[in-house]
Amino acid sequence: MANLKIGNIQLKEGLLLAPLAGINDIAFRRICVEHGASLVYTGMVNANALVRGNKATKKLAQTCDEERPVGIQMFGSNPETLAKAAKLVQDQADVIDINMGCPDKNVIKQGAGSALLKRPKRIGEIVNSVKKAIGVPLTVKIRSGVEVSSIEDTIKIAKIIEENGADALILHPRTAMQGGSGVADWNVIKEVKEYLSIPVIGNGGIKNISDAKSMMKETGCDGVMIGTAAMGNPFIFEKTEKKKTYEEIKETFYRYLEYAKHYEIENIFYLRMQAQLFFKGFHSAALFRKDMGYVDSIEELKKLIELNLGFNLGI
Ligand SMILES: Cc1cc2nc3c(=O)[nH]c(=O)nc-3n(C[C@H](O)[C@H](O)[C@H](O)COP(=O)(O)O)c2cc1C
Repeated sequence: MANLKIGNIQLKEGLLLAPLAGINDIAFRRICVEHGASLVYTGMVNANALVRGNKATKKLAQTCDEERPVGIQMFGSNPETLAKAAKLVQDQADVIDINMGCPDKNVIKQGAGSALLKRPKRIGEIVNSVKKAIGVPLTVKIRSGVEVSSIEDTIKIAKIIEENGADALILHPRTAMQGGSGVADWNVIKEVKEYLSIPVIGNGGIKNISDAKSMMKETGCDGVMIGTAAMGNPFIFEKTEKKKTYEEIKETFYRYLEYAKHYEIENIFYLRMQAQLFFKGFHSAALFRKDMGYVDSIEELKKLIELNLGFNLGI
């Protein structure tokens, strides 16, 4: 994997963890860094709420030294509010990212996320305003369209983002309508890359490390960002195809639980979901998932994991 520099931040490599709202919490991001991720992003944070001082939102933007370099992603539609919010959190971030791709109804209703793709002028104003307000590099994450994927429109938007001072572009070549389904058209990444001088980070459809290498080779992108395939699977950043044993996963998941406790994100319903993601793919996973629905404390969760260990080892 090639070197990647975003603004003045030199990354070890170009292997990034995607913003994953509701999944990549502070503890999970730290685990991904320990397993080799070069840069991790928070899930999207509401800029309006951040400026209002909303406690829960502040918590979502919380980062720790152990996960650095870390990017904080924000969504919003007002250039001044986004700039204010970015300024508020820049001390705890190495990079700020603006979300211009989210298809969620509630986000679009505010004119944010993928709704911005229809307002190129506003995109320019946002990038300009945020860039001027902060001292850390700025990235912008976009999709290749709202209803229809368009190389021409995406190039136009990418150029506006570059001209207004962004330090890198993250491109997920699916439309907002597609959500996470269907094929990500890597050809769009290749085309856009030819028109930009700032680094282009490709995202979409990477299932394993050989896909990541293929994306770099086929598109010439400067770095890759992994989303779904990293969920419950921080091991993807180790760059080997070797399947982890149940015990290895257990050891990592217990470390995740320790961090979750440390950062006070110990909601059992949430941790149950994370356990399901970590342990998916084991032959007793179906049984495991069913039992997981009844677990209501961390002790019970661990008990179930230990029980399942015996099952997996054939004891
Ligand atoms: C559960 C989930 C949450 C996501 N949250 C965000 C988010 O907060 N901000 C964002 O820009 N993209 C978000 N995405 C999109 C991913 O960052 C990524 O662009 C998308 O999943 C495509 O990459 P992949 O094919 O590697 O999964 C989310 C995706 C998933 C599955």
